[in-house]
Amino acid sequence: MKKLLLAAGAVALSGVLLAGCGKSEKGAAGDLIKIGVAGPMTGDQSKMGIDFKNGVELAVEEWNQKGGVLGKKIATVVGDDQHDPKQAVAVANKLVNDGVVGVIGHFNSSCSIPASSVYQQTGIPMITPASTNPQLTEQGFQNIFRVCGRDDQQGRIAADFVVNRLGKKRIAILHDKTTYGQGLSEELKKALGDSIEVVAYEGVTQGDKDFKAVLSAIKTKKPEALYFGGVYPEAGLMVKQARELGIDAVFISGDGTIDTKFIEIAGAAAEGAYLTFSPDPNGIPTAKAFLESYHKKYGEHGPYSIYAYDAANILLNAIQKAGATDGKKVAELIRATPHDGALGKVQFDAKGDVTVAPYVIWVTKGGKFEEMK
Ligand code: ALA
Repeated sequence: MKKLLLAAGAVALSGVLLAGCGKSEKGAAGDLIKIGVAGPMTGDQSKMGIDFKNGVELAVEEWNQKGGVLGKKIATVVGDDQHDPKQAVAVANKLVNDGVVGVIGHFNSSCSIPASSVYQQTGIPMITPASTNPQLTEQGFQNIFRVCGRDDQQGRIAADFVVNRLGKKRIAILHDKTTYGQGLSEELKKALGDSIEVVAYEGVTQGDKDFKAVLSAIKTKKPEALYFGGVYPEAGLMVKQARELGIDAVFISGDGTIDTKFIEIAGAAAEGAYLTFSPDPNGIPTAKAFLESYHKKYGEHGPYSIYAYDAANILLNAIQKAGATDGKKVAELIRATPHDGALGKVQFDAKGDVTVAPYVIWVTKGGKFEEMK
């Protein structure tokens, strides 16, 4: 808890921590305009949280170099939800109390969904770079957006790949019982219909380190494909242990797994794993400047760094266009404006989803992720 409050209270301006700024200023009322960035900043998913933070801070730094927004410098307030839904609500309240005028986050759907109620009640726009569970934008909240796709879209792509491209006949599906992991697995199952035999469908507990019991039971069912709905800490161990047990089924997972940490954890067992995610930014012409600046400052980008960067720019552009930080006005402009960002064109629909969400298949080859053509 101590760690959470410290992280949630940290205010950074161009990389300098300004402790205590949150007390006296509300949003644009002081000399700073504050935006929140929330996600798992510590713990086993912190790589994703730090990717977010870096993406947002890079955008903010660029704005500040040009004079900020509405004539004021921009500060980021970082909230660490440790991928825990209760902490996410605490972080959301803390960010609101700190006077942020918008939030980029959270990472996990299980955090974004409960936190979105806090932002909805307080009228603060929230743009998640990564939360893909459909429910987030099905709540009818006018100020909640995502720049990523949805798991009904992602599940369909995975199903089509397993059945039509790989030609598999037997699949075992595991998930981590979270809103995201279970939700994505359910979307996959729905999209598979009766085109393939689902030989096992089981939940595991997030944080567990030993999946050998469930994997041993699955082995007896002779799956040709093993799907995991969840995030890289468990995905890495799962594929490693599956190979140790002699399960040779192709391993498939989603956007929560596509991080170099997955390869670090799984080692050689990561080889050949298929993952659904959006296209490689290295192949997107508009991403070039972002990639150069990001790599210079932070090293290799994470899967969602560019999404966090674009989300921050979308929020700041809307504030500038509104000429004010009023949440309702800003949210209306986020929805109404087509955005030209590092990802290319981003446009939101009435629900707050992006109008185009291209999912593609990636494969792990030679210890690296590669987009399949
Ligand atoms: N897409 C993942 C989620 O929604 C990160 O939780």
